[in-house]
Amino acid sequence: MTSQIMRDHMKRGLGMPRELYLSPELYERELEEIFNRSWLLAAHESQLARPGQYVTVESGFESVIVSRTLEGELAAVHNVCRHRGARLLDAGCGTARRLVCPYHQWAYKLDGTMLGAAKMAPDFDKARFPLKPVHVTSWQGMVFVNLAEDPEPLAGLLALGEDAIAPFDLPGATVAHEITYDVGANWKLVWENAQECYHCNVNHPELIRAFDLAALGDFDLRRSDDMRVQSARLGLKPGAISLTLDGRPACSLPMLTGDPYTVALHLKPTFAVVCCPDYTVMLRERPLAIDRTEVTMTWLVRAGAKEGRDYDLDNLIKVWDQTNLQDWALCERTQLGVRSRFFEPGPLSGDEPSVAAFHHAYAAMLSEEK
Ligand code: FES
Ligand SMILES: [Fe+2]
Repeated sequence: MTSQIMRDHMKRGLGMPRELYLSPELYERELEEIFNRSWLLAAHESQLARPGQYVTVESGFESVIVSRTLEGELAAVHNVCRHRGARLLDAGCGTARRLVCPYHQWAYKLDGTMLGAAKMAPDFDKARFPLKPVHVTSWQGMVFVNLAEDPEPLAGLLALGEDAIAPFDLPGATVAHEITYDVGANWKLVWENAQECYHCNVNHPELIRAFDLAALGDFDLRRSDDMRVQSARLGLKPGAISLTLDGRPACSLPMLTGDPYTVALHLKPTFAVVCCPDYTVMLRERPLAIDRTEVTMTWLVRAGAKEGRDYDLDNLIKVWDQTNLQDWALCERTQLGVRSRFFEPGPLSGDEPSVAAFHHAYAAMLSEEK
């Protein structure tokens, strides 16, 4: 039903129907059918470089521990004890040599192998109670997990963006900064907003100093058939070579060698990356509630770049942090509007083809009829 309503609106060139932002049943389906089956960004590899380093990835009611094992492998396991189900680790990141449940101290290796449990019957077989594994993979220096049983390989999904992203050598980068934003809007409003620059001229004074709105859409736009994956070069104003306040590189160590360009890659609805010649931002998005979305932005620079010497942190993060805050205010304003019983979606403009592409991807991701 939902996909059908959506397709009908799409055919007529309209925005998303109001109910789709507001239905609690649909929200539950989205978590299960979309987010718990999509590749979720866990970390940059540099955040999981040393044995024992871990991060958790939260999605709906699920939580995953992603780590570099003591043997040096990447591992991902459900953050759920095999005894009576307690969460093993609090959400966040840290270092651990093994996972010990705080409740009754069942202990596991980072890859989930069970190490021991006190006072169990003599016939208790440890081998039968490992932590349940989760699919984990690394792509261009970024680590992803997927809760699906048999997910589509990530490398194949993102192949259309690979030749544009690879020259930035993301595996050779390091994290300069990370900000997590709590946005008071449905996750689809956040994605729709990110898909168009109809609003940029008036709302993003910092972004448009270097970003050339006139060049939008002209550059090597590629989309997967289902429109979940999109890659596009971003046009900069004459003389600008990076998305910074003055168009000059914010970091003196380049990530890209060769002719400078800027490119964005999206994997809807969980991940985006924007690579500039001197820095990259990774974006991860997850719904916290029907009207609340968490967005984390991570700024990467060439490994070895030092704050204060090679870059000024404020200058490095300024354009995107300001743009993000402006965008969240717009999303929250729209959330208020769509709650109104009198909201009726109007037609999309000629500057919003990627919003329509997002609608297409959304309809394709929801399973057919329920
Ligand atoms: S619930 Fe984890 S040891 Fe009991
Ligand atoms: Fe924006």
